[in-house]
Amino acid sequence: MGDPVSEYKIAKEIFAHGRDLILTDEAQRMKGFVQHGTTSVFEHAVSVAKFSLLLADSIETVFRKKVDRRSLVRGAILHDYFLYDWHEKNEYHNLHGFTHPGRALRNAQRDFDLNEIEKDIIRKHMFPLTLIPPRHIESFIVCTADKWCAICETFKIDVSSYIIYRVNLHHDLVRGRITPGKHFHIGKELR
Ligand SMILES: [Fe+2]
Ligand SMILES: [Fe+2]
Repeated sequence: MGDPVSEYKIAKEIFAHGRDLILTDEAQRMKGFVQHGTTSVFEHAVSVAKFSLLLADSIETVFRKKVDRRSLVRGAILHDYFLYDWHEKNEYHNLHGFTHPGRALRNAQRDFDLNEIEKDIIRKHMFPLTLIPPRHIESFIVCTADKWCAICETFKIDVSSYIIYRVNLHHDLVRGRITPGKHFHIGKELR
């Protein structure tokens, strides 16, 4: 985990770009499916969004290349929007590693409006397992962050619990599941 101040800033940026996705019942369904170890698909997606933003920071600084951070976050949140338990073996999702980007993209296009970069992020995030390389820098970033997060989750290395807590807190505040008090100020949280 990074320091709480930068984690808080990242959580705010994730919410700023992906608020309308995160708050939907559809995206919240990802909490019901396990990704790696004990991490849900939703938590994985938030973690991938976090590391995608950190990678974007480095790329923007070192290469002076502009990254579409909004598409980056939105693609990261939806990159594994396949909505089934991939640990359960059946013919419907037999070759999960190869087929789930396509399934995630179809689900995401059904439920949300996506731009071309977001579609490319979802479709290509398993490269090089799926052979067609990403077309945009944002897709390369999510593809890389995804692999890092998968390793951490598999080996139970906690890299994102604080940011997941912040994103869930935003969600619960907006949904009225917790009431703003002296520690939480809804206006400030969501600005
Ligand atoms: Fe995936
Ligand atoms: Fe993933």
